[in-house]
Amino acid sequence: MTTQMDEPGPKCKAWIERDRQNLTPSTTRPYPFVMDHGRGAEVWDLDGKRFLDFCAGIAVCATGHSHPQVVQAIQDQAARFIHMSGTDFYYPLQIQLAEKLNALAPIEEETRVFYANSGTESVEAAFKMARYHSGRPRALAFIGAFHGRTMGSLSLTASKVVQRNRFAPLVPGVTHVPYAYCYRCPFHLDYPRCDVYCVQYIEDVVLATVCPPQEVAALFVEPIQGEGGYIVPPAAYYGRIRDLCQKHGILFVVDEVQTGLGRTGKMFAIEHWGVEPDIIALAKGIASGMPLGATIARKSVMDWEPGSHANTFGGNPVSCAASLATIDLLENGLVDNAARMGEHVLDALSAIQARHPSIGDVRGKGLMIAVELVEDKTTKEYATGLRNDLMQECYWRGLLTLGCGKSSLRFSPPLLITREQADEAMEVFESALTACEQRAYGP
Ligand SMILES: Cc1ncc(COP(=O)(O)O)c(C=O)c1O
Repeated sequence: MTTQMDEPGPKCKAWIERDRQNLTPSTTRPYPFVMDHGRGAEVWDLDGKRFLDFCAGIAVCATGHSHPQVVQAIQDQAARFIHMSGTDFYYPLQIQLAEKLNALAPIEEETRVFYANSGTESVEAAFKMARYHSGRPRALAFIGAFHGRTMGSLSLTASKVVQRNRFAPLVPGVTHVPYAYCYRCPFHLDYPRCDVYCVQYIEDVVLATVCPPQEVAALFVEPIQGEGGYIVPPAAYYGRIRDLCQKHGILFVVDEVQTGLGRTGKMFAIEHWGVEPDIIALAKGIASGMPLGATIARKSVMDWEPGSHANTFGGNPVSCAASLATIDLLENGLVDNAARMGEHVLDALSAIQARHPSIGDVRGKGLMIAVELVEDKTTKEYATGLRNDLMQECYWRGLLTLGCGKSSLRFSPPLLITREQADEAMEVFESALTACEQRAYGP
């Protein structure tokens, strides 16, 4: 039995047509969801259909949709003033939030904050800061990484070729190296017997042949690769990466745009590995959907001179107010809930994996979880078509999800989901998977 339909309701359909006639064709919409309103982890489309939201605007709405505390903070600040350009003037909210972020950052040395509006700008700032501080021209980044789409960040991004096609020349000097994708080890090794050879390879091959280490300003990495497939490196990984960076005086930059704050069951994902970065890029979930980016760096690294980097909207007061309210909610229960519910969802998915031929891997931390769909568990052939069909089927059955990597489906719900909502999502997911497997391979 399948519930797949070919059309959304009439109101959704009409707005999708108006979108098509007026907006850029460069975006990718995996299914025809048109938002009317949301509360917590539930959203409703224009035709009144309810969905469980397990993508949260791409891991943004950490506190759920329109959390009353966040809405109140936004309304209060909007009534006081909406903008005053932190580049030229002072206002307490920017300072309060910076104090909070500095206190939370998993860096022992004093830190400083630079504000922007988005993830790509946070990374862009980190990129410029690393060059400025070090005086070195090169950078290391990872195959599969997604760091954003402005020219600097895009030069670090190596997720899908469509994101780069026809945009060259990009910023020169970036060398991409293989990521610790243990399910599909680029070196065909097994952890821990491999002794994290993928880091040794950077040292022995990349830095010894194509990329002089004394020219490398920074290494950019997502602690858990997001767009690339919600890939979680093994326990020993970041200790080795940190050692490599320290040995060569390379700044260790973690892009926590998707993993932070709180999503992985810790405020910063890098805390799972217990190592200190030099620079942290943040955006997405830090202000519950208000646009805000923040780059946190060691005070000794953020040593650029006045006028060297700034922007008009970064650290907008309404966004800062939303962020302070968000962090308050994260500290008072949501990070813990992400850790608890994450374990629950991982357990449920592992049980589902055992019952289905097409789930090759289940992975994640906190509420940043993915399943990787394969044609065959032994050959691990990517089941991209099945993943796309499954994402659609989940939608028709009332569950919003997104894809990542070549054939993975990700779950990144608001951090306040209840056990009942998690169970409901898993039930919908399994019924959709059963239907899709039957469509693809027969009963
Ligand atoms: C890890 C990571 N870095 C950077 C970005 C870019 O963020 P934005 O889309 O806000 O520019 C993203 C967006 O998905 C991301 O996941």
